[in-house]
Formats: sequence, C-alpha cells, structure tokens
Amino acid sequence: MISNIITALLLFVWIASCSPISDLHKPEAATELPLPVRTVAQIDTAPAWLENIAVRANGDLLVTQLAPAPVLFTVKNPSFKNATLDPIYQFNVPNASTLLGITETYPDTFAIIAGNATPNADGYPGTFSVWSAKFPSPQTSKLEIRKIANVPAAKFLNGVITLPERTEILIIPDSQYGLLFRLDTRTGRSEVIADRPEFKPYPERQNKTVGFGINGVRIRDGYLYFSNSNLVKIFRVRLTRDGYVGQAPVEVYADLNAATTFVDDFTFAGDGTLWAVSNDGNTVVVVGPGGKKVREVAGASDALTIAGGTAGAFGRGAGDREVLYVCTAGGLDAPVNGTVVEAGKIVAIDTRGYGYSESDIYGLV
Ligand SMILES: *[C@@H]1O[C@H](CO)[C@@H](O)[C@H](O)[C@H]1NC(C)=O
Ligand SMILES: *[C@@H]1O[C@H](CO)[C@@H](O)[C@H](O)[C@H]1NC(C)=O
Ligand SMILES: *[C@@H]1O[C@H](CO)[C@@H](O)[C@H](O)[C@H]1NC(C)=O
Ligand SMILES: *[C@@H]1O[C@H](CO)[C@@H](O)[C@H](O)[C@H]1NC(C)=O
Repeated sequence: MISNIITALLLFVWIASCSPISDLHKPEAATELPLPVRTVAQIDTAPAWLENIAVRANGDLLVTQLAPAPVLFTVKNPSFKNATLDPIYQFNVPNASTLLGITETYPDTFAIIAGNATPNADGYPGTFSVWSAKFPSPQTSKLEIRKIANVPAAKFLNGVITLPERTEILIIPDSQYGLLFRLDTRTGRSEVIADRPEFKPYPERQNKTVGFGINGVRIRDGYLYFSNSNLVKIFRVRLTRDGYVGQAPVEVYADLNAATTFVDDFTFAGDGTLWAVSNDGNTVVVVGPGGKKVREVAGASDALTIAGGTAGAFGRGAGDREVLYVCTAGGLDAPVNGTVVEAGKIVAIDTRGYGYSESDIYGLV
C-alpha cells in the first residue's frame, strides 16, 4: 500500500517534471513590473564608474572600475545584507588607466580589458591590452595578475567573451573603430576578424561627441550576439567554433529603440531571455526568446535605482541563480534628470517574478 502511494507520488513528480509548464517562472506574475531591485553595495564617493561584472564559481562578484582609477573589486557573499565592494587589485602600470570587460577563461581565471581613454571615454589608439587575473584557490581573493598581450591595432576595446569550445580564444569588440578582434591568449596574437557597418559608432544619433558602436558580446548556440549602443539594437552573426565570422551576414536580433535610448552590456538567462542594461536609460530591458517582446523591466529613466547601469551577470550561488547583478556608473554618462549623479553600485534584481504567459511561449494566442 505504502509502496503504491510512493509509486503514485513518484509518477506524479515524474509527470510534473516532464511537463514544460514546470519550466515556467510563475507566469501569473508576468505583469508585476518593475521587478524588485535591491542595492547590494555602493562605492563611498562619487564619481565612480563601475563598468563590468563577472561571477566566480564560489558566488563572489568581480567588478571592474572604469573611473576614477583602474581597480578590480570583489563582493563576497552578494546575497548577504552586509555585503561590501572591496578593492582587490589596482593596476599601476602605463596604459591601464581604465578597466573594461571581464570574462572567465579557465576556472577562476579571468581576462580583463585595460587601456587609456579621455574622461568621456574616447580611447587612445594603441594603449589597449588584455590581462589575466587568476585566483589560486576558491577561498582566496588574492590574485595573480599578468599581462596577456597588447592589442596595438585597437582604439577602445570594451566587452570581452571567451570562446566556449576553445577557451584560450577571446572575442573582443572595439566600440570606436567598430571592429571585432580575436585574441589567442596562448600566443598573444590578435587579429581583426570582421569589420561591419553594424559594429560602427553613430554618436550623432544621440547628439554625442564620443560614440559607442559594438559594445557587449555573448556567444550562444553558435552565434555571436552583440549590442550596438548608439543604434540601440542587439545583432547576431554566426561564429565558427574556432572563433571566426568569415562573410556570415549580420542579422538584427532585437530593436530596443522603443524601450530605451542606449544599450550597453547584456547577458542571457538559462531560458534564452536576454537581459540588457541601458546605461543612459537607467533601466534593465528584457528581450524574450527569439528576439521578441522587448520590455523595460526594472529601473526608470528619472530614478537613481539603476542609474547608468553598465553590465549584468546572473548569480552562481545556490540561492541566487535567478538574481541578476548589475553594476552602475551612477549616471555619469547622462545624469538623472540632467543633473543627479551618485557613486557606482551593485544592484540585485530578482528575476523570478518575470515570465512569459503560456501564449507567449507556445504561440497559442
Ligand atoms: C554578515 O552577515 C552574515 C550573515 O548574516 C554573517 O554571518 C556575518 O558574520 C556578517 N559579517 C559581518 C562582517 O558583519
Ligand atoms: C602605451 O601606448 C603607447 C601608444 O600610445 C605605445 O606606444 C606604448 O608602447 C604603450 N606602452 C606599453 C607599456 O604598452
Ligand atoms: C539632437 O539635436 C537636434 C538639434 O538640436 C534635435 O533636433 C534632436 O532632437 C536631438 N536628438 C536627440 C536624440 O537628442
Ligand atoms: C527626477 O524628476 C522627477 C520629476 O520631477 C522626480 O519625480 C524624480 O524624483 C527625480 N529624480 C531624481 C533622482 O531626483
């Protein structure tokens, strides 16, 4: 009898786990926007432009600072209420006055972009380089730092992503020359692998003097996805498993112009939703699977909640895999309401309330 009940229960659990419905994030909560945003930790004094974020396997955050100094920060236990942004390394070498993209290359080893730029982020050609930051053990925040290579042909390297099947290869966009670089971290050799109109900056669209074209990059299902900040769009192009683009056509994946005025870095959630931060827009915008359903889901253009969000990454701890951590510049590029800035910070966005209704997923209408 008992064993029959257990069998029935197991069968029920099995059926429930096979049903695609159980994969949905609480679809009934889909309209509860904006999503809740919590400040995890903030730099003490403005100005402080935090630029990019990666998550260690132990759950700690790593955050690069673009200005005022090239500092790498960590946030240990970001789900704790008492979390702090702690500096763990300051670059103190020529041609590394700003830090940009960060990506994991080998377990607990990260590649970091450094270079020189004017205060309004106009890059100095020939100053950009890529560094390796290695944690010798999961328990430590002490780092082994070394330069991987200079990328002398670049003007403003920005995001960076590791090739999934060959992690010694990095794909690195140049936001100002509008080029895509490929770097072999074993040899230090870099090459331009593509030069397309969709990579170029178009500062006149936002009445700016300094432009940002291709900015954030992610690789998913054989495509390189990239944002163009000035065009306010996400594009994609096929990438070979060795990290080349060849003559593959660039496609528009999602147009974010109806939702915001700028797009900075972005990341994918496990279900294929794309989470983009809008920097000047002070929001987070979600793109549904397939590039459909572009929606502002957190922050607001006139609020400090996500003032100048620059990049986001999902947690890797047991309890925060559905938490999007976003780093901010405090509105330095475009002050909130024209005048208000604050120090950069890390916010946590609980994405569990965001889901698609059945009709969105199954096309049932
Ligand atoms: C921070 O909070 C955690 C969990 O509540 C606690 O274990 C830890 O001792 C606290 N650390 C400090 C420095 O207060
Ligand atoms: C710094 O950048 C300049 C180009 O502005 C370059 O000539 C020089 O070799 C670089 N120095 C280092 C240490 O990379
Ligand atoms: C740019 O400036 C022009 C002329 O001042 C103005 O008409 C236009 O609305 C501005 N565009 C944006 C995006 O601010
Ligand atoms: C911006 O202006 C709006 C409208 O006056 C106001 O509600 C909001 O609090 C302001 N934001 C900040 C950060 O001061």
